[in-house]
Amino acid sequence: MGVSILALIYIIAAVTFIMGLKMMSNPATARKGNMVAGVGMVTAILGTIFLYRNPDGSLLQNHIWIFGAIAVGTLIGIFAAKKVKMTAMPEMVSLFNGLGGASATLISVIEFNHLADLGFPADASSVGTMAIIFAGVILGNITFSGSLIAWGKLSGKVKDFAFKGQHIINMILFGAAIALSIFITADLQASATVILFYIVFLLALIYGIFFVLPIGGADMPVVISLLNSLSGLSAACGGFLYDNKVVFTGGILVGAAGTILTVLMCKAMNRSLVNVLIGSFGGGGKLAATGEQGQHKEISLNDAAVVMSYANKVLIVPGYGLAVAQAQHTCHELEKLLEIKGVQVKYAIHPVAGRMPGHMNVLLAEADVSYDKLLEMEEANDEFTTTDVVLILGANDVVNPAAKTDPGSPIYGMPILDVELAKNVVVNKRSMKPGYAGIENGLFYRPKTSMLFGDAKKVLQDLCGEIKNL
Ligand code: TAP
Repeated sequence: MGVSILALIYIIAAVTFIMGLKMMSNPATARKGNMVAGVGMVTAILGTIFLYRNPDGSLLQNHIWIFGAIAVGTLIGIFAAKKVKMTAMPEMVSLFNGLGGASATLISVIEFNHLADLGFPADASSVGTMAIIFAGVILGNITFSGSLIAWGKLSGKVKDFAFKGQHIINMILFGAAIALSIFITADLQASATVILFYIVFLLALIYGIFFVLPIGGADMPVVISLLNSLSGLSAACGGFLYDNKVVFTGGILVGAAGTILTVLMCKAMNRSLVNVLIGSFGGGGKLAATGEQGQHKEISLNDAAVVMSYANKVLIVPGYGLAVAQAQHTCHELEKLLEIKGVQVKYAIHPVAGRMPGHMNVLLAEADVSYDKLLEMEEANDEFTTTDVVLILGANDVVNPAAKTDPGSPIYGMPILDVELAKNVVVNKRSMKPGYAGIENGLFYRPKTSMLFGDAKKVLQDLCGEIKNL
């Protein structure tokens, strides 16, 4: 009876995961979706703890250990989620990915040792089971070490590091881990089996580090998303090993969602997946010159207020700086003031603006900006020609024309917002310093562009004041 109730709970949990994912694809239902999937997950965990039966028919006994670990994990999770700043979300996602990978590795290690203790019985140590154990260790450890490096890089604690021939070494490390796994599976009784298993373990850990270390600048989001999908796949291996349908389904969903996101981000940043897999790209963070420096011109607050108030259409391009300044609410106020004056206001959203997928959508949703005012990049690029003023708020790389014109630029090929098609471009940032990719932006020196220097929140507050006084 308990077993069939547990099977039912797993099916319900799997359905809530799928429903939750679907709801998360729309900002209006995303929070609810997260909650729905979370409730499904808690139900599946409690169902497993109280209804799962061991092969001998007994129920789980070690409740104190399980609930002790859950309590510690929950407290750390709540504390981390409450403390993390919105702009540091990718770091937290990286850490969580890494922990997911480590958990999957532990499952494989425990199962391998269990089979080793039993002398690798033929029925329980089939090629399929061993392949899943090795896949769990390799994917889990790559995710773990790679995610820790990604976290270190995003938080500025680890610098980009590359050396000549690194791709070859990466391929050798990965190839050796796979070859050894096949070798061990083919001769499970050999005395060196356990030692060789831990060599595979180490190779995967080192590969994870070497794979992420050279990747820099604007390409990090793709790697985080890829590691996220690997963490899902490694968890799916654990589900397979324990014949636990809900872990398997959850892992596959994370793997698939992460892969889709990786592909979409590759497209948005013009990187091929193969390029990502061999860890061969990287911004390097150097300040690349465009040869366009010349003189930039500034615009006063009053002039900016006038030019926007008398425009027919204003498109706002939000970027990382808007998130840093936490100026989303003031930005919404500016939008409402301009609309009172009869100006049509919309937002142009670049897919990798900010520091995480959907960063700008979440930021603007927080300020209650209506979702139908947000234009995706392609739509926005069609509208710039009929736009009087583009107001860029703390964005830089996503409007850098070098992505289209300079083959030597680290962001060459990345689709950008074609803001120059508009009649006027007003750029708000604090200085002439570069953005995330560490490169100069020729847009700031073009004839149509005027710089409005200052912290985004302060500038927007002052702009609102000026517009009210017009
Ligand atoms: P960035 O290119 O990083 O430029 C942000 C600009 O904001 C900076 O140039 C900075 O100039 C300005 N700024 C910082 N604080 C400010 C403040 N308080 N007020 C006003 N301006 C401020 O941003 P972007 O255009 O949004 O591009 C995102 C970049 O991050 C891309 O290269 C992307 O590949 C990368 N990235 C994206 C993600 C995802 S998934 N979205 C994840 C990781 C990395 P000043 O210092 O002069 O003010």
